[in-house]
Amino acid sequence: MTIKDTLKKQINQIVAGQYGLLGFDFKVDYPPQADLGDYSTNVAMLLGQKLKKNTLDVASELAKQLANKKMWGKVEAVKPGFINFYLNQKWAAGQVAEIGKENKNYGGSKEGRGKTVVIDYSAPNIAKKMHVGHLRSTVIGAALYNIHKFLGYKVIGDNHLGDWGTQFGKLICEYKKIYGEKIKKNITVEEMEKLYLDWHKEAKDKPGMEEEARKELKKLQDKEKFNYQLWQLFYKVSLAEFKKVYGLLGVKFEAWHGESFYNKMLESVVADALTKKVATKSEGAIIIDLTKYSLPPLMIQKSDGAYLYGTSDLATIQYREKHYRPVKNIYVVANQQALHFEQLFKASELLGYRGQMEMTHVKFGLILGKSGKKMSTRDGEVADLIEVIREGIEKAKARIQEKNKGLKPAELETIAGAIALGAIKFNDLSQNRLTDIVFDWDKMLNFESGSAPYLQYTYVRIQSIFKKTRKRKSTKSTKINYGLLVEPTELKLIKNILKFPEMVEAAANEYKPNIVALYLNELAADFHSFYEQTPVLAAEDAVRQARLELIRAVAQVMKTGLRLLGIETPEKM
Ligand code: ARG
Repeated sequence: MTIKDTLKKQINQIVAGQYGLLGFDFKVDYPPQADLGDYSTNVAMLLGQKLKKNTLDVASELAKQLANKKMWGKVEAVKPGFINFYLNQKWAAGQVAEIGKENKNYGGSKEGRGKTVVIDYSAPNIAKKMHVGHLRSTVIGAALYNIHKFLGYKVIGDNHLGDWGTQFGKLICEYKKIYGEKIKKNITVEEMEKLYLDWHKEAKDKPGMEEEARKELKKLQDKEKFNYQLWQLFYKVSLAEFKKVYGLLGVKFEAWHGESFYNKMLESVVADALTKKVATKSEGAIIIDLTKYSLPPLMIQKSDGAYLYGTSDLATIQYREKHYRPVKNIYVVANQQALHFEQLFKASELLGYRGQMEMTHVKFGLILGKSGKKMSTRDGEVADLIEVIREGIEKAKARIQEKNKGLKPAELETIAGAIALGAIKFNDLSQNRLTDIVFDWDKMLNFESGSAPYLQYTYVRIQSIFKKTRKRKSTKSTKINYGLLVEPTELKLIKNILKFPEMVEAAANEYKPNIVALYLNELAADFHSFYEQTPVLAAEDAVRQARLELIRAVAQVMKTGLRLLGIETPEKM
């Protein structure tokens, strides 16, 4: 349980005992300044209002009772009725031992036990290259995946591939024109992309092509042999390409249910919507009217009978509810699709498909090039994802070699990979996801505060301190006296480590991995200022032991936190 949660429980117990109120709702926050304590609550103000009592009196009464809990040093009632809590330093220092015992599990919890969460992320489109734009969904989705797992949830990562729709009619048309009715096994994703672009160029002055594409699409939908085989080829080749990227990024999925997976269910979704009178016919098409909710209608079938993106998304919700019964259904998709998800969430509710699911659209902004514009190959920037990653690895190699010439080639390769991928991920995950972010290698790969290499380096630095302790003969005392950790730099570090579980929880609740990212950055900064001011190896034996345990805990939190963000921590760099 986090300290915040423990405090809430302590308060609730007293409020129940003293005032007979069960499950009373209030807030526990971090005060805006350190001299106002480590935690603070508004409970007395709310109680005062409810019970028509003087709030400051209520605050003092509660403070008195909470002060005798051993985790609190000072508990203070202040005007107009806040209660501020200061951690007991000795208790806090003693927690370092507990953190060490919890080891890799520290920061996680069991709050999600028995509950399932579906995370819909990455979801690139077949027959197109994975562009840097797909990076954000993949990276943010993977972080939310790790974080929920760490909180004990069963997580289903679902890659809702864009593998069906009108574009395939166009692709097939153009394909036949170029390659005839033969299956070109070695076709590349670039070639598929080109087919699509060429079709659009030509179609501008040839109106007949639309009709032709529709016919090919129809044949595909009817699973006519050649068209269906061709689609399977596009699918297979694209997927193999995506999997290369996922391999590099270290991303996994439990399900690969793309749009085509739901084809069989679309007819019944539409029929169901009509029966339930949620959908109506409108000029031949079938729509779900959402005027009442100030939203445009969601079209689920066109007048030519074709189904749409929204139709398969409705089927997806039905499927997920039936097969996984999730408590949360999370979509990690760009800002541009905000309206679609608003419509979808409303429509699925009207249809009764949602069950207990909480649905969230986790939106994000664009990735911009250094120029501040959308990244594009035309501006000489590498925008193809796999190329971008390779470019980053080369750049990282050069940076590492400047700093450390003694690495073996294989080591260099591994470390460069960890740094380049870490840099890409951290650049994304440390920023507010709603805003556009800039992709600038120089900034991402510097070893200064606010970059992945800085955090990885913090971990490596601590490991190198431990290496030195192994080299010197230590008179290892068996019992560590954590009470010796009393310096302000030490306490700051301890208090920060103690916040880690709260950060993980907040990142999940708010769908913001950047809470963890920024926290780690601050922890690293606290460590460096501690290390500058406080001798570790040179300290007297008992103090050294205690300090070593403290920095061991820092390294452990750093490693776990980075792992949640999908970032590796090399042992040296
Ligand atoms: N394939 C879509 C795109 O690239 C994203 C799909 C998101 N997931 C969903 N269930 N609609 O824009």
